[in-house]
Amino acid sequence: MLLKRKIALVTGGASGVGRATCHMMAGEGAGVIVADLDEGGAAKTANAIGEAAFPITLDVSDERMWVQACAHIVEALGRLDIVANIAGIGRGGSIEDTDMDDWNAMIAVNLTGTMLGCKHGLKTIVTSGGRGAIVNMSSIGGLVGPSDIAGYCASKGGVTTLTKSVAMHCAEKGYPVRCLSIHPTYVDTEMLDPVADAGGISRTDLTAGMAKLVPMGRVAAADDVANAVVFAASDRAAMMSGSALLVDGAQLAGPPSAHF
Ligand SMILES: NC(=O)c1ccc[n+]([C@@H]2O[C@H](COP(=O)([O-])OP(=O)(O)OC[C@H]3O[C@@H](n4cnc5c(N)ncnc54)[C@H](O)[C@@H]3O)[C@@H](O)[C@H]2O)c1
Repeated sequence: MLLKRKIALVTGGASGVGRATCHMMAGEGAGVIVADLDEGGAAKTANAIGEAAFPITLDVSDERMWVQACAHIVEALGRLDIVANIAGIGRGGSIEDTDMDDWNAMIAVNLTGTMLGCKHGLKTIVTSGGRGAIVNMSSIGGLVGPSDIAGYCASKGGVTTLTKSVAMHCAEKGYPVRCLSIHPTYVDTEMLDPVADAGGISRTDLTAGMAKLVPMGRVAAADDVANAVVFAASDRAAMMSGSALLVDGAQLAGPPSAHF
């Protein structure tokens, strides 16, 4: 029970990595607030978990909704210990064909949404007497820059350094809050459906192709990433803050071998 009696807010809880994290955190003893723009999806995740979870509708890019959500959590549960900023969107495009609507949407959800989760999550944890961590979902694209996802990399690179600034602030203030970022390779979730559709192939064929780019020979499962989030949020990671945790099957460990 890594998160016994902790209260955790998880964004993006309706799908993929967020949903897997909600289930895993509840299994580790946490009370979980399942937050998502997708109201029905959040309710479905919370219902599947049972008494340990309740859903809220939250657009992470909307500051007023964060204020309301945090007030509601403290009123209902008395405290907040953990925020997992997992909600995110992905749109393709190299720097030459980056569409402004796609750029603005990714910055709003991936970067502004995470910033607001850090800002209001931290304030709520500290003022409610909580102790824990803020875990931000970045990507390998927040550390390196594949050519075909320029805007996504920019938004996730922002998450990487924002995390370090939040970690430094918490440490300097003596707050009982750590802040870490998680950097997965390709994860087999609903996020890959439009990528497969755009390529005119099935998700199975898409992930098979992606797996060839990962030295360990497979893409990540949502649970692989949720495991890292739960660890980062738990007291087992007590001396880790500002860290960037790779969940990448060694993809960024080095260039492919030249010895055949
Ligand atoms: N799937 C991958 O290959 C992959 C790889 C690296 C990083 N990531 C990151 O992991 C995170 C989770 O991705 P996933 O694969 O589970 O995707 P997903 O599409 O399965 O889930 C994303 C969730 O975020 C929610 N969401 C989108 N916009 C929102 C908003 N404005 N407010 C609140 N919720 C919103 C969606 O409704 C959805 O439930 C994202 O931050 C993503 O960038 C994914």
